[in-house]
Amino acid sequence: MAVKVTLNPEPVAEAEREKLLEAPVFGTVFTDHMVTAVWTRAGGWEQPELGPRRPFAIQPENAVFHYGQQLFEGMKAYRGVDGALRLFRPDQNAARMNRSALRMAMPQVPEELFRESVEALVRADKNWIPGQGSLYLRPFMFADESFLGVRPADRCIFCVIAAPAGDYFKSGAAGLSVWVEQETTRAAPGGTGEAKCGGNYAGSLHAQTRAYEEGCAQVLFLSADGSGQIEELGGMNIFFVKKDGSVFTPALGTILPGITRASILALLRAEGTPVSEISYHFDELKADVAAGEIAEVFVCGTAAIIASVSRLKFDGGALEIGEPGPLAARLRATLSGIYTGAVEGPQGWSVTVSE
Ligand code: PLP
Ligand code: COI
Repeated sequence: MAVKVTLNPEPVAEAEREKLLEAPVFGTVFTDHMVTAVWTRAGGWEQPELGPRRPFAIQPENAVFHYGQQLFEGMKAYRGVDGALRLFRPDQNAARMNRSALRMAMPQVPEELFRESVEALVRADKNWIPGQGSLYLRPFMFADESFLGVRPADRCIFCVIAAPAGDYFKSGAAGLSVWVEQETTRAAPGGTGEAKCGGNYAGSLHAQTRAYEEGCAQVLFLSADGSGQIEELGGMNIFFVKKDGSVFTPALGTILPGITRASILALLRAEGTPVSEISYHFDELKADVAAGEIAEVFVCGTAAIIASVSRLKFDGGALEIGEPGPLAARLRATLSGIYTGAVEGPQGWSVTVSE
């Protein structure tokens, strides 16, 4: 299904764009175009259209405002060392979007429609990729039906927008303070924790507010069963490195199956580093830190890539992890190299977009 292309007749002027690209704060600068595709239960998917980025005209009774039937993805395009435009494992984003869609009772987005929409936007907005950064792509889908009954909408809109991105954290890859949340939780078994739907993020903001008050950049959520099992951050997965070099991360179930997480696991397994996906409790972490067993803690995700955690703060105390460690730095360099084609990654991870 080819994308119908109508280029923006009034794009941002080159000089202004160059200025905006100097140091874009994550998610605050947007490109000239967007892609939209409409789905109806009766007619299926209409042809996706790329056009100037513009507001949606939506009635106040639209189901998405009331029941939050929506989902999203996050991925990045890079200008490679060879000059080519590259995406990182876009098939994984397409597949995860469809798993989210199933959970949110929304239509499946054909992988071809997803890929062609994303690639058309990258082509149209390729001048928005910062020299030292990437173009963050945000595919999303929302219910678009004027109806206040609670049922899956009969009309949805799939859309892709793009935002030039540099470092997600002001501190770059270094030394994050993370708030361990013990009051609210993010996901429960059978809930929507594995889906990338906005409700999970809305529910995390109360804790995020507390985190900011405590001088922390992010929140680490624990399991909803009260046992204190470590899950993930509001927008990233987490890894622990022991002094003996072994690496572990919370097992899947109620967390977002991060593509960066899966890629790190694959890279570590390929080089023979002992790595496991386990159930790990906050009490165990406290004991391991006290015993000097934890060498590194780092978080990962598309937006953040990899960032080291230096401190975990919680009601009643703090765990000092220390300076950013070598494994996080090495993995960040490897992944960044694969993103731009400077490092050869596993087959199919770095996908070139024709211009
Ligand atoms: N966990 C949550 C809650 C996220 O929002 C993200 C970011 O997308 C991740 C983990 C990391 O996923 P990925 O590596 O696919 O970006
Ligand atoms: C991403 O990494 O793509 C996310 O959606 C997480 C969010 C912190 C921006």
